[in-house]
Amino acid sequence: MTASDFAHRAVADGVRTGTDAGLAAFDSAARKAIATCRRLATFSDEPVFTTRTFLSEAARAVLDDLRGWMARLGMDTRIDAAGNLRGVYEGTSADRPHLLIGSHLDTVPHAGAFDGVLGVVLGIALIETLEGRRFPFAIEVVGFSEEEGVRFGVPFIGSRALVGTLDETLLQQRDAEGHSVAEALRTFGLQPSHLEQARVANAVGYLELHIEQGPVLDTLDAPLGVVSAIVGQTRADVVFAGQAAHAGTTPMAMRRDALAAAAEWITSVESSARGVEGLVATVGRLDVEPGASNVVAGRSRASLDVRHARDEVRRELSDSLRRRAGEIASRRRVEAEWIMKVDQPSVTMDARLTSLLARAVESSGAAVHLMASGAGHDAMIMASSVPAAMLFVRSPGGVSHHPDETVNQADVAAALKATLQFLEDLAVAVDG
Ligand code: HGY
Ligand code: MN
Ligand code: MN
Repeated sequence: MTASDFAHRAVADGVRTGTDAGLAAFDSAARKAIATCRRLATFSDEPVFTTRTFLSEAARAVLDDLRGWMARLGMDTRIDAAGNLRGVYEGTSADRPHLLIGSHLDTVPHAGAFDGVLGVVLGIALIETLEGRRFPFAIEVVGFSEEEGVRFGVPFIGSRALVGTLDETLLQQRDAEGHSVAEALRTFGLQPSHLEQARVANAVGYLELHIEQGPVLDTLDAPLGVVSAIVGQTRADVVFAGQAAHAGTTPMAMRRDALAAAAEWITSVESSARGVEGLVATVGRLDVEPGASNVVAGRSRASLDVRHARDEVRRELSDSLRRRAGEIASRRRVEAEWIMKVDQPSVTMDARLTSLLARAVESSGAAVHLMASGAGHDAMIMASSVPAAMLFVRSPGGVSHHPDETVNQADVAAALKATLQFLEDLAVAVDG
């Protein structure tokens, strides 16, 4: 996306203000945050759309840009061994525990401008509004280096480093070029041997600010949502191996067509998911070899993403789809290989921190909408180590993982106001 597109979209955002008097104090911070996200959206691995993958040069440019803003606010900044941006705004005394605020800086291909990055920008923008005011905890803003799982097929690499689960198996995952995570970190100038230093030591909690990415808040005409739980997800690849053959000379009955097998399986993914209340299943990527119109496909690789609030329902459907792949393969005389990438259980947000957040939202003047998140977030990883809570910002039209993803300036102002209220309420709770 070019700078002029960026300017055009920024004007469009500006139109959606409608800020009421209670938010006026946060209006300029909200406007700056939206403009920053729009500007950072032009930091991309490709010329037209926003695509920013783990440890790319565009990712490095975003790290440098936000680190500079943090430094200008007097924050102590570093890039940790997993490529996460870490900025600490000290509390009233040096040894105070940290409240972490953040989200991820990587994107899906052809992304919008707010998924992930808004949470990091709002963390820094909030500190800017404090104008030197301190709390009885330090505020650590974290920009996770990898959450979407685009480059290595496994999500949450950045946040796993903070909770100690970025293990050797994950470090050996390989990207399409055959580079391991460990090699990619070293190529970026980082030391995987220093991962221990990325661990969160002394945290009072983790707050993630994120766009909802769905239609719920927009349908309710609500600016903010408080997340109760994040649904679990299964991610797997299914490889069908048949026999490449001539499209013109190979009779239909003699074919071992890996793409036709995948196609039959993919339609069964959709039909199976439609039959289970509250479940979603997606095949978002399909690679085909050799990939020529006059060659019967010898090999295909389909991605699978299954989500449901209840882990047993998700796992049951995933298992049935694994069996289905085998049944289709044997009938078509091809091989099917199931490659499990992620089995991420559903995670409930910390009750105490979430009720503090809900009260802060209410006393900031916004209605409280408690809701589950169908999207995965770093908060589900951080929750294994620190109390985690999430605040959603409305996604107009429910659009996300798309260039038209946007936010309302008034909703961003409401998120800043509610988060400041949360800091104040947490300060009272921490100091007792
Ligand atoms: O896929 C997700 O749920 C998130 O966007 N990473
Ligand atoms: Mn996303
Ligand atoms: Mn996200």
